[in-house]
Amino acid sequence: MISEDTIGRMVPAAQAARANAYAPYSNYKVGAAVLGASGKVYAGANVENASFGLTNCAERSAIFNAISEGEEKIIALVLVLENGGVPCGACRQVMNEFNPDLEIIVADPDGKVAQQLTLVDLLPNAFGPKNLGK
Ligand code: THU
Repeated sequence: MISEDTIGRMVPAAQAARANAYAPYSNYKVGAAVLGASGKVYAGANVENASFGLTNCAERSAIFNAISEGEEKIIALVLVLENGGVPCGACRQVMNEFNPDLEIIVADPDGKVAQQLTLVDLLPNAFGPKNLGK
C-alpha cells in the first residue's frame, strides 16, 4: 500500500491536471497522477477531439507522460473525477502493461478519496506482456 503522504502528493497533481482537461464535448473533466518506480509523480488530463474516438483519457495521458520521461514501471495512479467514476476498459489494459498490481485511488474533485482498488480487481485474468513472452 502506498503511504498517505504519497497520496497527499499525488492528489494535488491530479487536481491540477484536471484543471487543464480539454473536454468541450462531454464537459467531464478528469485528472490523473501516476507514481513512477523512481518516486516521481506524472500527471495527465483527458484530451477530447472533434473526432470523438480519438479522445485520450486522463489515465493514459498520465501513463504515457511517465513512460515518455523514462519510467519503466508505475506503482500507483490517482484519478480525480466527478460521480465516482472508475477507469475505462482501454485504460485498464494500458495500466496492465506497466504493472498488473497497480494501486488505483479514486478521488472526487475536492481531493476526497472515494475508493482504493488494485488493477487485478478491475482487470482479472488480463492478457499482457507475459503472453508474448515478455
Ligand atoms: N474519461 C477519462 O479521462 N477517464 C476515465 O476514467 C473515464 C472517462 C474521459 C474521456 C472523455 O473525455 C470523458 O471522460 C467522458 O467520457
